Amino acid sequence: MVNISVKLEAQLPQGLASLLREIGEIAEARGESAYLVGGVVRDVLLGRSNFDFDVVIKGRAISLARQLARDKGWDIRTHPRFGTAKLLWEDFSLDLVTARSETYDRPGALPTVKAGNIEDDLARRDFTINAMCICLNPRIFGDLLDPHGGQVDLEQKLVRILHHQSFVDDPTRILRALRYEQRLGFQLESETNDLLIKHLTNLDTVTGERLWHELELILEEDLPETIILKANALGILQRLGIPLSNDEGLTECFVTARSVHDQSLSLHSISLALLAHRMDSEEIEGCITRLKMPGWATRVLRDTLHIMESVPSMEALDILPSEIYRMLKPLIPEVIASAAITSNSPTVQERLEIFLYNWRYVKPEITGTDLQKMGVSPGKQLGEILKALHDARLNQTVTNRDEEEILTRKLL
Ligand code: CTP
Repeated sequence: MVNISVKLEAQLPQGLASLLREIGEIAEARGESAYLVGGVVRDVLLGRSNFDFDVVIKGRAISLARQLARDKGWDIRTHPRFGTAKLLWEDFSLDLVTARSETYDRPGALPTVKAGNIEDDLARRDFTINAMCICLNPRIFGDLLDPHGGQVDLEQKLVRILHHQSFVDDPTRILRALRYEQRLGFQLESETNDLLIKHLTNLDTVTGERLWHELELILEEDLPETIILKANALGILQRLGIPLSNDEGLTECFVTARSVHDQSLSLHSISLALLAHRMDSEEIEGCITRLKMPGWATRVLRDTLHIMESVPSMEALDILPSEIYRMLKPLIPEVIASAAITSNSPTVQERLEIFLYNWRYVKPEITGTDLQKMGVSPGKQLGEILKALHDARLNQTVTNRDEEEILTRKLL
């Protein structure tokens, strides 16, 4: 049995390593067993940092989690139906789950869950590299359980499923496999690769919400475009309702998005808009329906469609900044940033960027209250004057408060 307690303690911040020991001690005192499982074990072995801790309890996870939350004064969220609890502490999260086995009634369905032992719990997992665990109980703290050969696959840089039915049981693993392959710089083991291709059609059995969740995880990776291009080449994106018939130049767009990224904008929304730029209105509506997209993502897609329609008119030589402002203001900024990346016209690019970094913040100094003090009563006229002042500021026909006052008097 390999013991990796030294590695574990060297790699985790002091507080977290002792927390794991404490969990092991609490479990021991309750006559239960605790194991650190999944991605964090893989990442400890790879020397990568990961502070999303998943702990499996052979026993009663929720009750143990409550005891720990009470001792520490942490917030806790429980899901009694699934026997799981989440503890939240600063930017760190700890999930405690009761050891379980899973069976699948039909492809793509959620599994039927039964209490089980740690071996069952590891056997229900997606890939060998994610199916290892570290014992936390005191006398065996740091012992690594690796019944499926995860360590060898980590050394050989392979993503390998545990059994032939894996992609049938849970076709979202098709997307997960591509994600780990890219993130870790691994390859799909050859039989896993064949089965992945063979079972692609099973993606059609998965609910939109689950597919959307996987797509979001892909967009959050450091290099989402690599996964997207491979998924497209395999025909997977098509099954997600994203038929990217043309993916030429996609990598350059994602690289530019990262290099010009302004922290106030969400990179993940810009990435989604970059995909939407390559779709037509019918495809966009099809994708929103297939993936049961949440409101914000639906808005990214539909706003992308609007901006693609507005862009040609933004090339006009005599278009005023205020006209561009009125076109762009209703759209979310990430869509505008992505249009600046994809546009072939330097004029349009420049105008979109000026909007993002300047025009969208421009405001007249005179406010509605000032106008009321000048005798304008609230209502239509006041709104029109404010809009005229705003336009004048954008078009730089007024540049300070005195000029705004002159314009206001003229308008009155
Ligand atoms: N898991 C699985 N099948 C899935 C989803 C998850 O077997 N469809 C298992 C894997 O063992 C995984 C663990 O549940 O390691 C936790 O899931 P998740 O948090 O999604 O994976 P991590 O490995 O922690 O991934 P990441 O590093 O992306 O957080």
